[in-house]
Amino acid sequence: MEKMKNKLKLSSKYSPDNIATLATRDCIKFLRTIPEKEAQLIVSSPPYNVGKKYEKKMSLDEYTKLQTQVIAESYRILKTSGSICWIVGNYIPGECEILPLDIHLHDKFHSIGLKLRNRIVWHFEHGLHCQQRFSGRYETILWYTKSDQYTFNLDPVRIPQKYPGKKHYKGPNKGKYSGNPRGKNPGDVWSIPNVKANHIEKTIHPCQFPIALIETLILALSNKNDLVVDPFMGVGSTAVAAILNNRRVSGCDLISEYVRISRNRVKEALTGKIKFRSRDKHIYVPNSNSKLLKRDDL
Ligand SMILES: C[S@@+](CC[C@H](N)C(=O)[O-])C[C@H]1O[C@@H](n2cnc3c(N)ncnc32)[C@H](O)[C@@H]1O
Repeated sequence: MEKMKNKLKLSSKYSPDNIATLATRDCIKFLRTIPEKEAQLIVSSPPYNVGKKYEKKMSLDEYTKLQTQVIAESYRILKTSGSICWIVGNYIPGECEILPLDIHLHDKFHSIGLKLRNRIVWHFEHGLHCQQRFSGRYETILWYTKSDQYTFNLDPVRIPQKYPGKKHYKGPNKGKYSGNPRGKNPGDVWSIPNVKANHIEKTIHPCQFPIALIETLILALSNKNDLVVDPFMGVGSTAVAAILNNRRVSGCDLISEYVRISRNRVKEALTGKIKFRSRDKHIYVPNSNSKLLKRDDL
């Protein structure tokens, strides 16, 4: 019985009864197994075509064609109230020149009828140290909806006010809260540590996303039991965030080792054993006494 329950919960073949469907598969083939208008949220980060170990570098034309196909399949499976969030960085076309992929891909989303609601900047502190330009310290999340009747839950993602409990001290609103006492809108610039080195969520994946980043999108753009899909799921950060928040999830990756890790992480999430950095944990701020070395010291 318990075996049967687990089978239903975690499968590699899509069924609306699965809590998690995780497959080692090409994303186009996988998306085709999901019926039309089934998903409330598609959140993903495609390869950026920069020659990472999990991708085959292709021409920009080939890359764009593939992305356009994935976007079209994602649109097909999206509910009318649903959203697509595409997390992207820069493609590097030549020596030190950058092409932000959000600029490049926007038209592909827009031309099939998706409406851009936010271009969220995800800011982080760690990454390559560039010598010929400023080091890249953000990626963007393009948030599109399929229609104007879309799900947007602000309350679960509100953040503390700068001055909580502050009230108007004069005028017609005297004595009333000057802001929403439940917290403020988190805005469209999010500082969330990226998963590097000693981060508690780190696995073998070179570009793993923090669970907190995906959780914010899941909480705001879907409801309990909704289906969340990630066609480039890597080691399953979207899947874990979905399970932790009682959503169903489907995702795939070409690399079986990543899918194996995703399955383990999802099992840990289902049994409450997963370790992750919570959304409200404070970010380390360097001590203001720590000084830079002066020119003469170098
Ligand atoms: C940027 S990573 C995603 C990382 C993921 N967000 C996480 O937190 O682990 C992109 C992933 O897409 C996978 N991938 C590349 N091409 C694919 C394809 N055609 N179908 C499915 N997965 C693919 C790669 O193996 C890689 O793990």
